[in-house]
Amino acid sequence: MPYENKLICDNLSVNDEGHLLFAGLDTTLLAKEYGTPVYLMDEDKIREKCRIYKNAISKNLGSEGRAIYASKAASFKRMYTIMKEEGMYCDVVSCGEIYTAHKAGFPLEKAFFHSNNKTDNDIKYALRMGVGYFVVDNKEELLSLNKAAGKKGIKQKILLRLTPGIDTHTFEAVDTGKVDSKFGFAIETGAAEKITEKALVSKNVELIGFHCHVGSQLFDSDVYIRSAKIMFSYMTYIREKYGYIARMLDLGGGYGVRYLENDPVIDIAENIEAVANYLKKLSKENNYPMPSVSFEPGRSIVADAGLTLYTVGMVKKIPGFINYVSVDGGMADNVRYAMYEAPYTVLPANRMNERGDMRSTVVGRCCESGDIIQPGVLLPSGIKRGDIIAVCTTGAYNYSMASNYNRIPRPPVVMIKDKKPYVAVKGETLDDLIALDE
Ligand code: LLP
Repeated sequence: MPYENKLICDNLSVNDEGHLLFAGLDTTLLAKEYGTPVYLMDEDKIREKCRIYKNAISKNLGSEGRAIYASKAASFKRMYTIMKEEGMYCDVVSCGEIYTAHKAGFPLEKAFFHSNNKTDNDIKYALRMGVGYFVVDNKEELLSLNKAAGKKGIKQKILLRLTPGIDTHTFEAVDTGKVDSKFGFAIETGAAEKITEKALVSKNVELIGFHCHVGSQLFDSDVYIRSAKIMFSYMTYIREKYGYIARMLDLGGGYGVRYLENDPVIDIAENIEAVANYLKKLSKENNYPMPSVSFEPGRSIVADAGLTLYTVGMVKKIPGFINYVSVDGGMADNVRYAMYEAPYTVLPANRMNERGDMRSTVVGRCCESGDIIQPGVLLPSGIKRGDIIAVCTTGAYNYSMASNYNRIPRPPVVMIKDKKPYVAVKGETLDDLIALDE
């Protein structure tokens, strides 16, 4: 089978007709039923990933450990319902995510509120909604939160977001743990200590512990060990100087997923076990009570639970130069190549038994040359208008980063559970596009 190596996740397969199956269903039939573009999401895979995290955390870190879904990766009501049912916590970064979680019935006391610029209104809203934890990112936020919590007569639980000074060598836009990051307080410069001191004397907040998140799409398990080491040594320093003992240590998200066949597969359970063992060793050596440890995965929960289907519109062969295959979506529903040159596996969903003998650049429909889904894709040379193209691993940061550029309506999200598809988010209509226009 020509595309055998490109079936990069176990929810992909091919039937006798040469059609791509996703989560056990024929993608060409799904394209017919729901139209294209369409985001497909495999609910069973999402739940499987949640359980991998939850089981590894409870086995190695006890019931105090937390698996927090970073909901920016894919945020809509159904996701929060799944997270609630799976007993996950959630990371939220805006009033929009808080509201969506709330409307889905997600218990907001299990939410961690991130963002490097929470406005006074955001802070008030989150307090009103009963968000469990604020991950405080800067001094302005601490002052505003302390004031707002005081007005409400509550003591808000907080963590401080620290930057341990680690360069993860992934792409710049998602590298967040370095000293010069816009996020959090650097340990190295003394900013972390200053804010810790301030938090400890702020009457209306309760400092629960510390947080760090060093980057995304990481394959190097050593990164977590290195950040755990730096965070722990900071915690012991703070204990010696201020007598404060952190009850929680949140190591952020970042585990990578396979976008291409050559990407490694990460054994998340094994990785968490290694980090947990290391932390236990540090706790013992330093005689520091073991804090409750959290991980905040986004991408690794949802990425390969997603797949996008498009219909081919035109095939333009410029001999000696390039072949373009254009589809009925593009940077409006998947901006990740345009933004990060992110790699993707692209498959001819209704021609999986044909050889990929035509190197093609798969482009979108936006009026912009940079509207590229993926260059260098090997597609069958017979590909033509009406064929279906599948882009794999689109569950993370595709729907959530979608726009209406060129006034293109956002596609629906169709979930598949036990081989049964259902609409989780409706596709936008033309009327939706003008709904707010005066
Ligand atoms: N925790 C915090 C504080 C974060 O900022 C993030 C992601 C996560 C957890 C989840 O990281 P993950 O497990 O998904 O790697 N739009 C980019 C990714 C940006 C990540 C932002 N923060 C992309 O499309 O690749």
